[in-house]
Amino acid sequence: MATPQTRGNWSGRAGFILAAAGSAIGLGNIWRFPYSTAEGGGGLFVLIYVVFVLLIGLPVLLTELAVGRETGRNPVGAFKKLVPHSWWPAVGGLGVLTGFGILAFYSVIAGWTVGYLGMAVSGKLGAAVDGESSAAIFGSFVANPLWAIALSGLFLLLTVLVVRRGISGGIERLSMVLMPVLFFLLMALALRSVTLRGGLDGVAYLFTPDFSELSYRVIIGALGQALFSLSLGMGAMITYGSYMSKTENLWKAGGYVAMADTGIAILAGLIIFPALFFAQADVTAGPGLVFVVLPTIFNQMPLGLIVAISFFALLTIAALTSTVSLMEVCTAYFVDERGWPRKNATAVIGAGCFLLAVPSALAFGAVSGLSEGGWFTWDFLTLNNNIWGNYSLSIGAFLICVCAAWKWGVPRLLEALEGVAPRYPIPMRGVLTFMIKFICPLAVLLVLIFIVVTGEYF
Ligand code: PFF
Repeated sequence: MATPQTRGNWSGRAGFILAAAGSAIGLGNIWRFPYSTAEGGGGLFVLIYVVFVLLIGLPVLLTELAVGRETGRNPVGAFKKLVPHSWWPAVGGLGVLTGFGILAFYSVIAGWTVGYLGMAVSGKLGAAVDGESSAAIFGSFVANPLWAIALSGLFLLLTVLVVRRGISGGIERLSMVLMPVLFFLLMALALRSVTLRGGLDGVAYLFTPDFSELSYRVIIGALGQALFSLSLGMGAMITYGSYMSKTENLWKAGGYVAMADTGIAILAGLIIFPALFFAQADVTAGPGLVFVVLPTIFNQMPLGLIVAISFFALLTIAALTSTVSLMEVCTAYFVDERGWPRKNATAVIGAGCFLLAVPSALAFGAVSGLSEGGWFTWDFLTLNNNIWGNYSLSIGAFLICVCAAWKWGVPRLLEALEGVAPRYPIPMRGVLTFMIKFICPLAVLLVLIFIVVTGEYF
């Protein structure tokens, strides 16, 4: 079994925060958040989302980090240590499986971002002059089975190459270089977008809640997005927490990660909505927003080529720092529990994931209902997203809260959170206790009931 020395560690707080923020910040922020915001009516969705990050996301994030650091194990090993001789390790097992399942469809969409980056660089995206031509480019791109498979394979290979180098030498080093680049690109793009003619209308759309849009779907959607965006419910943060030193203050570290993730989602909104208002494009284009609508807008704006290249580079970077965290959850399981060498584990997971990614890559119907005419009559990518990204994450988040609050116990959770750092003020401990015992499990349970009863997803 791997020992703390052989498992690896973050080199310090900055390394951990950048890596954990890298896991959280991904396609969820830049691809999914904007179209969910548009579907949820703009400012109202953003407001509810931010409230959920604070009230539900942050407590669950702190809990996962505390469980990970206290046990120093992958999700399965963590639950074995928390509640020995019980069925709770199965919750960790579900997390590992979920990481694998998400990686298998996430890498397909990540592959598209690389393809779009290539098309932007080679000038091919220049032909996306209006909605129709852009949809045609997207349609023929995702419909090309060889490209879709090769690019998701390439993305998985990149992920393997990072994760096999370990925690500080692989994941942390990648995040230390790429996260500042990501931040710089985002700031530059947001500045470009906000200063476009009509851009401020997009800003107003993002920040002015229209309460007539309020519905249970908006509320449930915002909560689901908060879980997915913060990488919660599958043990990614348990795993990342397990490499953290006892001297770190998890309240602060968790707070920074949640703040960075939310800030970047809003920055992504500040890129996309002003651009949409500038071009007077349809804001409710759904999942096709980034791939179909944005290229047409880039072609209308000054410096559009540079903006397009930067944007798809940004999306690729954000996706890579997230796929490494998904793969790390599975890798940590094989290293800790099965004693596999890290390099073998990453090779096997990468190859297995690739096999599962192939049907998703061939479904080419994930976005804007293009599934007709696909190689499969049903859309494997959407199916995977629903099973792993919706059901499984919600079930996982619910059970993690219940186990930590009711089985392990809040006093131990609070102690684990603080490590050897000074105690936190009583009111904050009280709020966390109340949230994690009652509000978080209840809220996540409601999401689950909603998606089971209505068959709708986030
Ligand atoms: N948080 C990532 C995103 O927003 O794109 C997605 C994700 C990564 C979910 C890692 C879960 C996870 F464990």
